[in-house]
Amino acid sequence: MALQKKGMHGSWASRWTFIMAATGSAVGLGNMWKFPYVAGSNGGGAFVLIYLLCILIIGVPVMMAEVLIGRQGRQSPINSVNDLVANSHINKAWLSIGWFGVIAGLLILSFYAVIAGWALKYIVLMATGDLQGVDGTSASSVFESVLADPIGLIFWQTVFLFFCVIVVMGGVKKGLGLAIEILMPILFVVIFLLFVFCLFNTNVLEAMKFLFSFDLSNLSGRSLLEAMGQAFFTLSIGMGAIMAYGAYMPQDASIGKTVLTVAFFDSLVAIISGIIIFSIVFSTSGLEPTAGPGLMFISLPIAFGNMTGGLLVGTLFFVLVSIAAWSSAISLLEPSVAWLMEEKNLGRVNANLLVVLVAWILGIGSVFSFNIWQNSMIFNFTFFDFLDFLTSNIMLPITGLLIAIFVGYVMSPKIINEQIGFKSSIKSIWMFLLKFIAPCAVSVVFVAGILDKFSNG
Ligand code: TRP
Repeated sequence: MALQKKGMHGSWASRWTFIMAATGSAVGLGNMWKFPYVAGSNGGGAFVLIYLLCILIIGVPVMMAEVLIGRQGRQSPINSVNDLVANSHINKAWLSIGWFGVIAGLLILSFYAVIAGWALKYIVLMATGDLQGVDGTSASSVFESVLADPIGLIFWQTVFLFFCVIVVMGGVKKGLGLAIEILMPILFVVIFLLFVFCLFNTNVLEAMKFLFSFDLSNLSGRSLLEAMGQAFFTLSIGMGAIMAYGAYMPQDASIGKTVLTVAFFDSLVAIISGIIIFSIVFSTSGLEPTAGPGLMFISLPIAFGNMTGGLLVGTLFFVLVSIAAWSSAISLLEPSVAWLMEEKNLGRVNANLLVVLVAWILGIGSVFSFNIWQNSMIFNFTFFDFLDFLTSNIMLPITGLLIAIFVGYVMSPKIINEQIGFKSSIKSIWMFLLKFIAPCAVSVVFVAGILDKFSNG
């Protein structure tokens, strides 16, 4: 059975397609919408420093471990882990890595599609000129009226999921691979154009000062946890997306180099998005960097609505965000789709529709969090905030921790050597980070963050 299953989904055309696909997965709403506002509400510089540190010493080693498990198993995350567990006669409890991942993926996809829907709606608002000349009050009221309309939100969430289905239906080469090869170059060109625009027209220096000058004293346990959660979220690790993509990776590509490349691109995009957003915020009077989730949807339209060429630049910006979200969401879909195909003998199309239907229904809960369920709280969170906190700050770190321990201590060194095959000095640094640093850091930050959360409400 296991042998038959090997590679049933096909593989990427080349190492480069894998890098682009993993970068596409990594670069998304996490970089453009979440990173700037989370950094903003946690005070900027110090948070950014911790975040980059988490990427380097926890994110990269764990991501390598994920790719390794995927490429070894060459199936959906659940079955890749299954095979490893069965073949090495280890405790069945390790299967939870695959399961946890697929569940987290579905939960993330459900709220991700809702936010991506906002971005789609904003393309239209921008392009039709509805946001031209807005000021603080009118931009906020546009955003509030977008959020207050559940039917509209469900419509855009549905449109977004529809786009994802189209891609994932095409399979690894003709769907995901092709989409990635078209979308990623567009994404990089657009972000570059926006950056150049900001360099000449806005307050880039102020933005850099906010992002890079740090005062460690205003970091709480909660912000450490958020920095780590953000590192997991932005790299797409801790839920099998990268494992699934790793399963389609050519055998001769180096895991270490590709993962470092992906992490580099991802951090670059987060920082550049931060610079773009904050430089616009700092050049427009009355805007605060601490605005929270509305930062991108309220502050930026004010700036775009009042600058020369703002209609075009603003529309381009939301196209960029939508493309980034799109190339990420397909990676949230793929693990469950691959699993349903392997286990339930469903065709790609049906598997896709089923997963998207579940995400769509759950997503309605997130849609309602912004209007009719606005005041219904789960532990002080709205349904949407609860899912976001549960996945980014709890599920992803726990699965990440399990993956680090699994590859660091449980998996046979022989398999690891076959898959990694790089210089022993680099391998020992990686193993050290995976065995000692990542588990300790994740545990400490996790406990500190939870204590902080519940002591301050
Ligand atoms: N990394 C994406 C972003 O930054 C989101 C994402 C895609 C993700 N796949 C994931 C997050 C898997 C966690 C796990 O927007």
